[in-house]
Amino acid sequence: MITLKQFGSKITSLDLESIDSELQQASSLIEKRNGAGNDFVGWLDYASKLPESELDDIIATAQRLRRDYDTLVCVGIGGSYLGGRCVIEAINGLFPADDFKIVYLGDTLSAPYTTQLLKWLANRNYAVNVISKSGTTTEPAVAFRLLKEDIEQRWGKAELKDRIVATTDRAKGALKSEADAVGYKSFVIPDDIGGRFSVITPVGLLPLACANIDIKAFMKGVADGERDYGSPDWHENLAYRYGATRYLLETKVGYASEMFVTYEPQDQMIGEWLKQLFGESLGKDGKGLFPTSCVFTTDLHSMGQFIQQGTNCLFETIIKEQNIPADQDVVIKEDAADLDHLNYLAGKKLSYINDKAFEAVLSAHTDGQIDANVIELPKMDAYNLGNLFYFFFRACAFSGYLLGINPFDQPGVEKYKHNMFVLLGKPGVK
Ligand code: PA5
Repeated sequence: MITLKQFGSKITSLDLESIDSELQQASSLIEKRNGAGNDFVGWLDYASKLPESELDDIIATAQRLRRDYDTLVCVGIGGSYLGGRCVIEAINGLFPADDFKIVYLGDTLSAPYTTQLLKWLANRNYAVNVISKSGTTTEPAVAFRLLKEDIEQRWGKAELKDRIVATTDRAKGALKSEADAVGYKSFVIPDDIGGRFSVITPVGLLPLACANIDIKAFMKGVADGERDYGSPDWHENLAYRYGATRYLLETKVGYASEMFVTYEPQDQMIGEWLKQLFGESLGKDGKGLFPTSCVFTTDLHSMGQFIQQGTNCLFETIIKEQNIPADQDVVIKEDAADLDHLNYLAGKKLSYINDKAFEAVLSAHTDGQIDANVIELPKMDAYNLGNLFYFFFRACAFSGYLLGINPFDQPGVEKYKHNMFVLLGKPGVK
């Protein structure tokens, strides 16, 4: 289970009891599943209901892909790729020793990126996991077509069936019909779980399993989250307390933005995942905190000055692992010459120095104008990330109901997708 601590004069003097009835109401909408968008709350108990056989099927597919190929290309955008990539990088790091590589396409329309990746793939024996709930999103659809053409040219049409795994809707969309017609191995994205909540479904699980991440532990973390953050009483529910805090920081204190902060470059995607979860869920009807993210200490040297003393528009939510494992650490050695004057750090671990930076920044920021949540995970592993994700799901749904909006739709995104179809002349779209 995670811990949540709060620092700063405004956040620590918030009076949650004063909005008790609003908090009870939001909790009840989740509990009774009768709030706006209630046909998309399947994530509430998906993990605890998931049959073990589904996980075994995903693991068996991942093992086949790892055995027969040396690379997996994950094709998806938004909720169809961010969560998986976030967990893979946070656990395996940015330079994994694994010979089996995982790369991403379909999350951009960038011609140079696509060209460079296709060129790199020319020396790889790759498989593809195409992930799209609607099965019609332009970015992944275009990338998928390019990859199919490449597979056909290099290995022949018959190979498509073995090299491609589709993760999509159980019945609708172009991808589903194609998967049925060609016979791709397929996994289902449940009807009642939207993209940004779908990392706990085959959307995230197959890429994770391909990265040798223990998806049973991940799902146990999610399932335990149902218990850890499932109390309908907001006093006892950490996710609801965090949700209530961010609601008051927006509506009473007047902050415009929540900045998610991590201290490890490999955790950068946690910030990206959170930006999508909160941005797409809560940014509607002229409401919602603008979610942004930084990686410290790197960004202290670009954004630190603004955060400390610029427009007082944001609070921080810091996500940290309690202890960096010894095999991921480095010790600073004594140097007889000491030309760099760093001998005062000799014998210290780099993680210790990073921790001191964290403490120094926290006190500098919260002694000044900033308020901060500090969320700590015992360990950055599959179990704890699953647990953390469930915490944020609950907090996000709760925040949405407090704001009086539907946290589960994305009308703005649908509008851009539609406009693009019109501009590109997609048949049947006006
Ligand atoms: O959270 C969401 O619903 C979106 O970010 C979608 O995941 C994203 O737009 C991709 O959609 P699809 O999976 O239908 O291709």
